[in-house]
Formats: sequence, structure tokens, C-alpha cells
Amino acid sequence: MTIRAIVRGVGHYLPDRVVPNSEFEATLDTTDAWIKARSGIERRHFAATGQTTSDLATRAAKDALSDAGMDGSDIDTIILATSTADLTFPSSATMVQRNIGNTTGYAFDIQAVCAGFVFALANANALIISGQAKRVLVIGAETFSRIMDWTDRGTCVLFGDGAGAMVLEAAQSADNPDDRGILATDLNSDGTYCDLLYVDGGVSTQNTGMLRMQGKEVFRHAVEKLASTATTALQKAGLGHEDVDWVVPHQANIRIIQSTAKKLGVPMERVVVTVQDHGNTSAASIPLALSVGVQRGQIKRGDLVVTEAIGGGLAWGAVVLRW
Ligand code: UT7
Repeated sequence: MTIRAIVRGVGHYLPDRVVPNSEFEATLDTTDAWIKARSGIERRHFAATGQTTSDLATRAAKDALSDAGMDGSDIDTIILATSTADLTFPSSATMVQRNIGNTTGYAFDIQAVCAGFVFALANANALIISGQAKRVLVIGAETFSRIMDWTDRGTCVLFGDGAGAMVLEAAQSADNPDDRGILATDLNSDGTYCDLLYVDGGVSTQNTGMLRMQGKEVFRHAVEKLASTATTALQKAGLGHEDVDWVVPHQANIRIIQSTAKKLGVPMERVVVTVQDHGNTSAASIPLALSVGVQRGQIKRGDLVVTEAIGGGLAWGAVVLRW
């Protein structure tokens, strides 16, 4: 017998304001048709003035806790993946901890940009299988609307705000791939490429900064690295593409999602796609897609799920789990 991290609940939250592509046509040299054709995005949600990442994260966390039949005091570890923290410190995870009424666990943020949720999930899994945590709340939450350059049509039409969360619990397992839980993880980064996607400011440089991206270059790396990390994670689990029920990719661009699925040998009928409704919500995109995938009746108990993501760093990775 061994210990495995099992999914007990999932949830999400999207801010009320929905912004269709057509809204950008008034201020930018762009069209709904271009945005849809080049990215697959049709609309995105933007947080209201004053609504912060920890507000979004708290709503998603409560939704996931309710799905798990738990409350905040049942959790011993909270990991929040975000690149848009409310404040420089304390961590936004501690604000979520306060908001869900948890005083006995510990909370921290993790920052791997769009790969943040995959990094958080892999770290939560490591804490559980090493016996250091029993019930972990893993959240991805972002307010990327706060770091957009609204004059840059190559980036500001692509991103959105939102949050998703998952509750993981330690459980005994016979270590069989048919049993539920996280089966394998694969994490990577290569700082050689840190100039391809970054924010040109921060605390130490004394300005907030805005997101900058060499889209074409990131695209090229994305397809190759996502297919490779997903394949590696499947191999670590002793499984192949034919075993996959659902690929739940980072939702940045429908063309990246399609090309990666093709490379993996998984048909699009087995890929959860939400990019048309959410845009790119960075670390929130995978837990949002998982939660929506369950709500739609796509992902069911016992399904083999592969998540994969890449973002600034570059940082990328994949997690294979039995739902
Ligand atoms: O989440 C982290 C990972 N991020 C990503 O995965 C994003 C990866 N990159 C992409 O998704 C795509 O590269 C973009 C959607 C950003 C751009 O698509 P593309 O097909 O690579 O277009 P491009 O950058 O090569 O631009 C083609 C043309 C350019 O015009 P010229 O130079 O050919 O005259 C751009 O200036 O499209 C122009 N363009 C636009 N036109 C209308 C760029 N943005 C827009 C726009 N509306 N919003």
C-alpha cells in the first residue's frame, strides 16, 4: 500500500463582467474575426474595480470545499498559484485562509505564471505522498486585467480574470493505475527564455509593469514542450495516449490546444476547451477548465485526466491523474 492524493472536490469563480471581442474594436485596430480566428477566444471575464485575486480565489475555494463536503477548518495546507497577488506580502493564500476560517493550517503562494496550477498540484502531491499534508486546497487565481497594456493589440485581447480550486486528500492506495489519485507529475523550466513572456516591472524595479510577449516564439515552444511534458508524465505513470479520457490543457490559444492534442494522438473530442469563454486566465485556466468539465458532464469519476501548461519562464509541466 502507498499514499495517494485523491481529488475530493473542485470549484471555480468568474467575475460578473463579460467582455466580448467586439468591445476591443472601439479602441484598437483589431476585429472580433481576427481574435477568434487566431486565438479561439470569443469573450473573457474582467474583475470589478476593487475585486482582487484573493476575492476570486476565496469564491473558488468555497465552491471546491462545498463540492468536497468540507469546510475551511478541515484543510491543513493551502497553495495558491498566482502571478497577480493582491499585495507584495503577505501571500494571497493567507488571505484566502482567513476568508475560509482556517487558523490551524499553513498557506503560501506559488508563482509559475500560466504553469502555476500544474506546479501547485505537483507540490501538493509531493506534500501528501511524503506525509506532510493530508488535505490540501490547491487554487489558481488571477487578475491579469491589471497588468495589460491596453494599447498592445498583440496581448490585451488574449487574457482574462478568474479562479479555480481543487481539494486533494491523502488516501491509501494499492498503487494500481486504475485507482483514483495523482499518478505522475512532470515539471520543467528554462530561464534562457525568460524574455519571451514577462511583466516589465515589479517590486524591485519599482513599477508595476505590464505584460510583454513575443507571441509567435511562445507559440512555437508551447506546442513542442506541452506535447513532450504530457508524454513524459504519461510514461512515468506507465500509460499511453490511448489510455487518456480527457486532456485538460492550459487555455491560451485554440490552435496550440489543437496542435498539442494532435501531437499527443488524442482526438479533440477528448479535450476540454473553455478558451472561447474565459480567454487566457494564466494559473486559473486549468482548474477553471477542470471544474467546468465536471459541470458539463465531461469528466467523470474514474476518468484518466492529463493536464498540461506552459507560461513565462519559460515554465511548463503536466500532471496525470485518475479522477
Ligand atoms: O499563456 C502563456 C502562453 N501564451 C501563449 O501561449 C500565447 C502564444 N501565442 C499566440 O497565441 C499567438 O502567437 C498570438 C495569438 C499571440 C498571435 O497570433 P499569430 O498568428 O502568431 O499572429 P502574429 O503575432 O504573427 O501576428 C500576425 C499579424 C501581425 O501583423 P503583420 O506584422 O503581419 O502586419 C500582427 O501585428 O497580426 C497582427 N495582430 C493583430 N491583428 C489584429 C496581432 N494582434 C492583432 C490583433 N488584431 N489583436
